[in-house]
Amino acid sequence: MSLVIEAEAPAAAFEVRPLSPNFAAEVIGLDLRQPLNEATRRAVYDAFVRYHVLAFRDQALTPEQQIAFTEQFGTLERHVASNRNSPHPLLHIVSNLGADGRPNGKVASQKWHTDKSFRPLPSLATILHAVTMPPNGGDTCFADMHAAYDALSDPEKAELDGVGVIHSWELSREKSGGKATAEEIADAPPMTHPLARTHPDTGRKGLFMGEHASHLDDRPMADGRARLAALEAHATQDRFLYRHHWRKGDLLMWDNRCLLHRADANFDAALYPRVLHRTCLRGTAPT
Ligand code: OGA
Ligand code: MN
Repeated sequence: MSLVIEAEAPAAAFEVRPLSPNFAAEVIGLDLRQPLNEATRRAVYDAFVRYHVLAFRDQALTPEQQIAFTEQFGTLERHVASNRNSPHPLLHIVSNLGADGRPNGKVASQKWHTDKSFRPLPSLATILHAVTMPPNGGDTCFADMHAAYDALSDPEKAELDGVGVIHSWELSREKSGGKATAEEIADAPPMTHPLARTHPDTGRKGLFMGEHASHLDDRPMADGRARLAALEAHATQDRFLYRHHWRKGDLLMWDNRCLLHRADANFDAALYPRVLHRTCLRGTAPT
């Protein structure tokens, strides 16, 4: 009897360069159209956990290739909401184009949020690939919820410990002056998650809140909302932020478990198209 032990292929050589003193890094030298070998996949995931935002430069993935890249890191989240004009059912299009294919002046997702926080298993990561970008601006901004949590005083940390946040698609629509449909409400009932969430890979605590966070489970609704607003103002100070200036070919992958993010409409959205391809990875129940 012989035992064959296959040597694991070494990780591909790639470079990871920090993009700011806080967090976020660019990744140079990988072609994401190709499957990653196991050592490379682990090295990429480690860099993702360390830097929270990875910007893979010079990529050109088809929708199928982006889906295949995403699935190397877990389970793809399906998009129930409107997915108009998508070249693939599992790919979501982020765009400011109207039904006539022209820029309509509207930029979605401008409020601080973390993707699908109203789900029982909120998103682990979002992957956004630039397809068509305005000549300037159209940035995506990120806020580090670990740093924001660490900067709280000890009494504040004690106050928030064990507190649940009610995340609600219906109330988040209402807050922004809209109205969820009966179908949307049935599909996404309110969900309670810990406000101080522990990152499953690092054990670090971070604030888990944002646009879909409605109120707190330990105090009256108005008090909880005021507290959440104050916490968001604290957590989105410049010192906790990274602003991504998109380049052609960028593919961004960010950690929804420890960041808030938002689109910045710092371009003429009625004139310039801004189109990105989006895939989402399902996460675990926050603890
Ligand atoms: C998203 C999102 C921000 C942007 O796709 O989840 O929030 O800059 N996008 O378009
Ligand atoms: Mn988002």
